Amino acid sequence: MNFDLIIKNATLPNGQIGIDIACKDGLIAAVERDIKAEAKEVIDAKGQLVSPPFIDPHFHMDATLSLGTPRLNVSGTLLEGIALWGELKPVQSIDDIVERALRYCDLAVSMGIGAIRSHVDICDDELTGVQALLEVRKQVAPYLDLQLVAFPQDGVFRDPTAQENLIRSLDMGVDIVGGIPHFERTMQDGAASVKHLCEIAAERGLMVDMHCDESDDPLSRHVETLAYETTRLGLQGRVAGSHLTSMHSMDNYYVSKLIPLMVEAGLHVIPNPLINIMLQGRHDSYPKRRGQTRVPELKAAGLTVGFGSDCVMDPWYSLGKADMLDVAHMGLHVGQLSSRADMAWCFDAVTSNSAQIMGLEGYGLEIGCKANMVLLQAKDPIEAIRLRATRLTVIRAGQVIATSQPSISALRLPGRPDSVDPSQYAPASMGG
Ligand code: FE2
Repeated sequence: MNFDLIIKNATLPNGQIGIDIACKDGLIAAVERDIKAEAKEVIDAKGQLVSPPFIDPHFHMDATLSLGTPRLNVSGTLLEGIALWGELKPVQSIDDIVERALRYCDLAVSMGIGAIRSHVDICDDELTGVQALLEVRKQVAPYLDLQLVAFPQDGVFRDPTAQENLIRSLDMGVDIVGGIPHFERTMQDGAASVKHLCEIAAERGLMVDMHCDESDDPLSRHVETLAYETTRLGLQGRVAGSHLTSMHSMDNYYVSKLIPLMVEAGLHVIPNPLINIMLQGRHDSYPKRRGQTRVPELKAAGLTVGFGSDCVMDPWYSLGKADMLDVAHMGLHVGQLSSRADMAWCFDAVTSNSAQIMGLEGYGLEIGCKANMVLLQAKDPIEAIRLRATRLTVIRAGQVIATSQPSISALRLPGRPDSVDPSQYAPASMGG
């Protein structure tokens, strides 16, 4: 049999070494040692890690790359970010958003991202962001899966036209129902918004992904309501809670009741480590709270947890480079996920877990999966996180769509080697 592509001598995320992966007609056709067949293109992985692509389950593509327009966020808080975004919205055109989003997608592809779930603000009667990102979703479809969440940034009840706009955006083709209960005027309105939005999703057969309790308020109770409405409406497995940072500050006794309710509801969990370590705890003196939700406990309870990047160079976060390994690295540190098993799990949190949350079909490295992969300059998932490894080759549907030169530094030191390859530093006892 002739294949389109064979990757030789790969290490897989599950630890298998010396594996060849053959692709045909956009799918993985064989995964075994020493495939002897012809292919139009052969890539020697040289024992490095080949993974399914990175997945970003939480992003704001309508705001990305807008940093400094019309001004910078001085306080660094979530609330000033929302106010600043409100200043930017009226002065940006559909073309502005499309151009920035496409540039971001170029970067994301080069960094091995294969799918992004982006929230899109619907609190704008022109639905500028929705129009722009529907166009972007169409344009990038050959090389990037883009899911869109109808996100009422200013509150579905607090904003006077958000309810109507949310329905309009779903009618236009936005995929998922979003929300922001902690930004509604009262706790009661927040709870009512969760009920209202979950009912819309149930009626339309859609998924839900809500910014939920993105605050330091230990008494916020919207995660509880989200779990309750998910179970009541039979939406188990279709609902994600994004951020959930209030859980960091909640009383331990209450959390011991809450997590089983989340398990009962099959809630997916999307922490956003880079943005939450930056935004949360801003009203604290010392000690300052970290503000990341309780990742080890949620993971231990069996919930599916996927890390998102949330923002890159926008009103809320002025750094970022579409690097999901950077996201995993921060999530690992803030969650103190330092055992070998936990560090390897952090790689799952930016790959397979997030693919499951997004409901991506054909994701993985088994025969019959879509031939979407990334070859990394690292020997295993932990090394990939440690190094924020270079993406040597990015493959989509069995075709190479991005390449990078390996990160190797030349040295000019007397009596020392003439180069340094950072991927060659793992101790032999760790498989290096
Ligand atoms: Fe967000």
